Amino acid sequence: MARRAGQAHLHQAKVRKSDEFYTQLDDIARELMHYQQHFRNQVVLCNCDDFAQSNFARYFIDHFDELGLKRLICSYYHAAGQGRAACYEQGHITNITLQGDGDFLSAEGRALLAQADIVVTNPPFSLFRAYLNQLLEYHKKFLVIANINAITYKEVFALIARQQVWLGVNMGRGISGFIVPEHYELYGRETRVNELGQRIVASNNCLWLTNLDHQQRHAWLPLKQRYYGHEELYPRYDNCDAINVNRTADIPSDYYGLMGVPITFLHKFNPEQFELVRFRKGDDGRDLKVAGKATYFRILIRHRAASA
Ligand SMILES: C[S@@+](CC[C@H](N)C(=O)[O-])C[C@H]1O[C@@H](n2cnc3c(N)ncnc32)[C@H](O)[C@@H]1O
Repeated sequence: MARRAGQAHLHQAKVRKSDEFYTQLDDIARELMHYQQHFRNQVVLCNCDDFAQSNFARYFIDHFDELGLKRLICSYYHAAGQGRAACYEQGHITNITLQGDGDFLSAEGRALLAQADIVVTNPPFSLFRAYLNQLLEYHKKFLVIANINAITYKEVFALIARQQVWLGVNMGRGISGFIVPEHYELYGRETRVNELGQRIVASNNCLWLTNLDHQQRHAWLPLKQRYYGHEELYPRYDNCDAINVNRTADIPSDYYGLMGVPITFLHKFNPEQFELVRFRKGDDGRDLKVAGKATYFRILIRHRAASA
């Protein structure tokens, strides 16, 4: 019991630590290039971002005219004091005085959110559920960085299954790493120093989550494998009438029943090609199992043609 409490504490500490991971300009540019058409005449809010420091702010200022933005608003949280906010429009910066700490959930944070059309940032992972709920509550368009674990939350999966939210273009190693503050201890982590002298930690566990359309989610996944004639490679689950597929690349083109695929399939998910049916569980409500052993986070999908 004490050990479990200790582990939970360690996990929490780790999550809070990644709250202070700052996003690199290159990673922002590499994702934002896929969404240019959405930004014309829009008010963009970066609500976990210091106007003077954040690379999100820098990206939107640098590309303000090219994107045809109407306004950029940034607000920044200060745990033990007064938050900061600023607005940028037609080359002019206006500071916005905040009474409170700049918490995105505060009344002042909500008032800024209400003014925005699109929210773009990397929010604190430890508050991700609350952060996403608020975006949905305010019916905002958004493009945000999340930990890959977020797509294993059943409420996030439900949003993805309903096509209200989807993955962005870059994920895992597609996001090159985060800037960490000087005082961080980085034992055992893959780190480097970039050309600006900033310490970068490679993450491999993040993705972009969005409700802005992009080309990649309409790309057809090429399917090279066949089920019939190779049945032994696709065992059936004990507790569901479905076959297990270990890698997205091995999804067979000729099997029209349910297939359990790894959660990372969502990165290749084209809703015109596949239907997301269920998350993780078999017919008995328990984790999907093959020969008595639970598989790691599977989602059940089928070819669209099968449900037509
Ligand atoms: C993962 S960091 C990313 C910072 C910045 N968006 C970036 O990408 O470089 C998350 C930021 O959210 C801030 N933060 C933590 N709690 C917050 C809250 N309740 N409201 C707003 N910001 C918060 C943290 O201080 C941190 O600066």
